[in-house]
Amino acid sequence: MSYTFPVTRNPNPKPKPNSSELVFGKQFTDHMFVMDYDEGQGWHDGRVIPYGDILISPASSVLHYAQMMFEGMKAYKTEDGRILLFRPEMNARRLNRTNERICMPQMDEELFVSAVKATVHEDKDWVPDSPGTSLYIRPFIIADDPALGVKAAKHYRFMIILCPSGPYYAANRGKLSTTRIFVEDEYIRAAHGGTGYAKVGGNYAGSLRASQKAHECDCNDVLWLDAIEHRYIEEVGSSNAFFVIGDEVITAPLAGTILPGITRDSVLTLLREWGVPAIERRLSIDEVTMAAKEGALKEAFASGTAAVISPMGTLRYLGEEYVINNREVGVHSQRIYDTITGIQTGKLPDTRGWTQQVD
Ligand code: COI
Repeated sequence: MSYTFPVTRNPNPKPKPNSSELVFGKQFTDHMFVMDYDEGQGWHDGRVIPYGDILISPASSVLHYAQMMFEGMKAYKTEDGRILLFRPEMNARRLNRTNERICMPQMDEELFVSAVKATVHEDKDWVPDSPGTSLYIRPFIIADDPALGVKAAKHYRFMIILCPSGPYYAANRGKLSTTRIFVEDEYIRAAHGGTGYAKVGGNYAGSLRASQKAHECDCNDVLWLDAIEHRYIEEVGSSNAFFVIGDEVITAPLAGTILPGITRDSVLTLLREWGVPAIERRLSIDEVTMAAKEGALKEAFASGTAAVISPMGTLRYLGEEYVINNREVGVHSQRIYDTITGIQTGKLPDTRGWTQQVD
């Protein structure tokens, strides 16, 4: 089933930012998508309207108990002016897995993808084309029943906002560079049975204290360890983490505490097609630091929608610093980055059906 939505054009479009000066997530386009959900009626009244503030009851459950979720995806401009989305059906599937976890209603995958396309279509001219830039797409759902009882709401609002964005880590402006990463040995991101695999705001609120600690040590982000032993690597910042030890590329298994990243899945697919051993297994920080000391730790990188592929150059753990690959971008990181961004921007052929065009 295909969906169409009424559009109210913004009568006061803003000037577009200079695409070579964009940062991540600070400027927003002229339009946004809004759709309501009511129990008994389902999702209804999807519409594209001018971007702007929204009215919300101060009693809305999202404001008190954080019943909300979000997704992250991007639109890219090709050299011949087409606009492409990368694996948007995967975001739709993940949205439904998150919604199931936090008692929010399911959404038809086609409805989700059509809403994203309709919104991006309206703000096509906002998709930047400088190297390392894209239009970041933020779909999200909030529970807005005005009621203070702790229970699942009956009314929800689904929205999509768009921001022309530069690289997530400011140093990566169209050319990869490495990050400094703080290994967090006190706070944790997620525990088994919790919401680690779901894209809910609370996971990120809970991460802020550790990010502060990382910044105090001049690090860009946090490497998360498991909740029980504070030993096994989980994620890095808001991205999945990969380590190249010897000939193997290793990442944490999807065992409930890890976000099932769409970039993560793409990285594993590419590596396996290239014949590189790509292993999903538990990897301890001791194994990583030992490999670093022995010279077996060849590379490490973050993978995510926002972060794309962001190589790590230094790990700081218990006050010691471990330098990875001389703080240089490794061959796997570069090859994966070039391939994924090549497919996303239409420079490389899409032989896997990963891109969808926005008309
Ligand atoms: C993404 O990569 O889309 C994310 O969700 C990261 C975001 C929290 C900045």
